Amino acid sequence: MKDLFSPEQRRDLLRRGFSRRDFGRLAAVLTAGAALPFYNEATLAQGLSAFPGLPADAVKLNANENPMGPCPEAAEAIHKVVQQGGRYLYQETAAFAEAMAQTEGLSREHVLPFAGSSDPLHRVVLAFTGPSRSFVVADPGYEAGGRAAAFVGARTIKVPLRKDWAHDVRAMAAADSEAGVIYVCNPNNPTGSITPKDEIEYLVANKPKGAIILLDEAYLHLSKTAEPCSPLVAADKDLIILRTFSKLYGMAGLRAGAALGRPDLLEKIRGYGAGALPVTGMVGAIASLKAKGLVEKRRQIIAGIREETVEWLQKKGFDVIPSEANMIMIDTRRPSRSVIAAMLAEKVAIGRTWSALPNHVRVSIGTREEMAKFRTAFGRVMNV
Ligand SMILES: Cc1ncc(COP(=O)(O)O)c(C=O)c1O
Repeated sequence: MKDLFSPEQRRDLLRRGFSRRDFGRLAAVLTAGAALPFYNEATLAQGLSAFPGLPADAVKLNANENPMGPCPEAAEAIHKVVQQGGRYLYQETAAFAEAMAQTEGLSREHVLPFAGSSDPLHRVVLAFTGPSRSFVVADPGYEAGGRAAAFVGARTIKVPLRKDWAHDVRAMAAADSEAGVIYVCNPNNPTGSITPKDEIEYLVANKPKGAIILLDEAYLHLSKTAEPCSPLVAADKDLIILRTFSKLYGMAGLRAGAALGRPDLLEKIRGYGAGALPVTGMVGAIASLKAKGLVEKRRQIIAGIREETVEWLQKKGFDVIPSEANMIMIDTRRPSRSVIAAMLAEKVAIGRTWSALPNHVRVSIGTREEMAKFRTAFGRVMNV
């Protein structure tokens, strides 16, 4: 097993605080033999639900999905490619990387395609943290990376969001001089709040020397004001950006995403997995990138439904954290776990909760009809 690592990989593992005894377990991960707990919205939602499954007719507002699904152009491209699905279609993956590079103004070498962004998120944590290299995150924030950090024995350091719900980049930069990865999610999950680009630039410029910034832009396209940070990748900074087609592009079940970063950083995560990517996800992603006006149109639709929902909640007396994504955090003024359970009894799945905000619950934005059902159920549950 030990021979799976090159001398350079071994030196890197020792530098990150792994002992030679850990090598076997890590080698097992590389050969997919160990149970690295893999988390994404779907598993987090199910795992924390008090109910084993959702009724078929339940309204699903608990995983930040996009009920619009793939755009017609993507659906058509997927439909067309299905008959060729008996082949290993690597060229579609290359074409996707090329399309992504062009869209972002990057070289092809700065793009590594994946089936969604959870995979590279886990890999970055495995590749750059360890027993002596911590994982610095915002609180509340998206939890998946923290689980991977726990698996490799890396400490997760939680830094509270600022009062305006932006990441506290100064506190994050100063949190640990031995940090391995500093994770920023922009817009943030679960708050939907924005961290301005100049704050991210500050973090990149002022992070501890050995650390990399992992910038998760899963919800970027849903925001009016969040700015893409791909120019920082083009400038070869110590930064990896994650992109996914699961949110605005409505392809969570089809799976496409990418890591954007300096080629030597991407090289470090490449080795933690293998295999061809689903051609359906790849062609769907290419068609989505080419669909004219799609981002703006969907952003407006989702923002419109979100703002109607917020207005109704505020009229009923509930505070909502200002969001620019397809989710809102509502202050339920009582432990929100009980609200989740009561809503599920009304066949409306919402959640999750975060321990930093125990009286808030996250609600994903669904269709107009779904949000009407949400309002009826919420009104009943909260007696308003
Ligand atoms: C912030 C964030 N990052 C990454 C992901 C992973 O999504 P996927 O693997 O579908 O790209 C999610 C899923 O909801 C998310 O909320």
